[in-house]
Amino acid sequence: IPVDPFDLVIFGATGDLARRKILPGLYRRFCDGQMPPEARIIGAARTEQDSAAWVEQVAEAIETFLPAEKRDPAGLKAFCERLRYVPIDATGTAGWDALRAEMREGMVQAFYFSVAPSLFGALAERLHNLNIARHDARIVVEKPFGRDLASARELNATLAAHFREQQIYRIDHYLGKETVQNLMAVRFGNTLFEPLWNAQYVDHVQITVAEEVGVGGRGAYYDKSGAMRDMVQNHLMQLLCLTAMEPPAHFEPNAVRDEKLKVIRALDPVAPEHIVRGQYKAGQHPSYLQDVENEDSLTESFIAMKLHIANWRWNGTPFYLRTGKRLKSRKSEIVVHFKKTPHSIFDADAGSRSNVLSIRLQPDEGIDLRVTIKEPGPGGMRLIDVPLDMSFADALGPEATDVPDAYERLIMDVIRGNQTLFMRGDEVEAAWGWTDPIIEAWTRRADQPVPYAPGSTGPEEAAILMHRDDRRWREI
Ligand code: BG6
Repeated sequence: IPVDPFDLVIFGATGDLARRKILPGLYRRFCDGQMPPEARIIGAARTEQDSAAWVEQVAEAIETFLPAEKRDPAGLKAFCERLRYVPIDATGTAGWDALRAEMREGMVQAFYFSVAPSLFGALAERLHNLNIARHDARIVVEKPFGRDLASARELNATLAAHFREQQIYRIDHYLGKETVQNLMAVRFGNTLFEPLWNAQYVDHVQITVAEEVGVGGRGAYYDKSGAMRDMVQNHLMQLLCLTAMEPPAHFEPNAVRDEKLKVIRALDPVAPEHIVRGQYKAGQHPSYLQDVENEDSLTESFIAMKLHIANWRWNGTPFYLRTGKRLKSRKSEIVVHFKKTPHSIFDADAGSRSNVLSIRLQPDEGIDLRVTIKEPGPGGMRLIDVPLDMSFADALGPEATDVPDAYERLIMDVIRGNQTLFMRGDEVEAAWGWTDPIIEAWTRRADQPVPYAPGSTGPEEAAILMHRDDRRWREI
């Protein structure tokens, strides 16, 4: 279904995120007929160039970052006709009149701040004070949204000086992933799971976001962040919230975000012995320390931790989180391990069993529930676990896996004015409020991350964290 006609301004239009994700994503939505013909995308950046030059760069980015089967030359030409470029000085005066001249009456207005957070204030102030953004305009901001509670509060205050909370769309692209939304469909669209979704029946939950890549060319940013700020405070926290939250009364922005916020507020502080930090060593690729060009770095590229949510639903059920770079494979999943049957009526060697529900985010999106059955054949009552598998590709055909990328979906939600999959200011602050003391403690005692082999599952200590509780991480 096409969205309403819009003017979307992308600040930082020549930057990496715009080239890799935002513009190829918009192009895909255009080819799918979701972008109305009147829609316009206005690139704004410091570079002095005309629209034709930018359009050429966009076409090149689409060719570079989208596989051939997702491109269509006729579509590309029509898409490029929807593009304009305005050179702009974010902190000065140049370009702002030209930008105002591009904005049309009667269009949805959206401004994407794909720039360093230090520029958010200057942009917000100019859009408001120079009467470019209407009262119903939307602004989209990217992570990192602060690096601690104080800076996040400051950013929120800066934006709030010029825009209302209903106009602010803080992106966490994990919320745009297909399976993340499926998690909510599974939980709240079936009667089967929700009655069991609590400490009485769930033994523990594992949330893993493993990456094969290293920190690549982002060393300067990453070394100041580490896995905790880069992944846990935002992406893993969001996955945790959606897994653990109470059912919202409606699938509606504030109802969902209220429930997520309650989860963050119920998180206990984490004991130091429940955290493992790691740093990848050199292998076929340079080590973390070489990648970030800082041989004294104490920043973690891996983290595993055990969390406790202190509320009625989850008291006694640990949540184990794990994320890292240069691991064995790229794999993200949420896995709910149910408790063992209370008593086995079968022979002792048949043992008591537990069900496992895994929600795979990437690759090979799907949901799989392991159930116990009798092994077929005459060998007596021997039990085995088999998957009740729902791979989207198998169940719904290959087109079903050709789902919009997270960014495509989220940008369309901005145009529709739907904030459900965006973070509210108080949520971000609460997440930092929980993260801050953990990071402060590391800094205070100059905590040294443990080296781990590239291509491994992370440091041995992460496995021990589980073994101590008589549990094991899932294979990655
Ligand atoms: C980003 C992080 O937010 O998410 C990166 O800054 C990380 O370090 C990336 O690689 C992972 O996203 P995805 O969608 O590839 O899992």
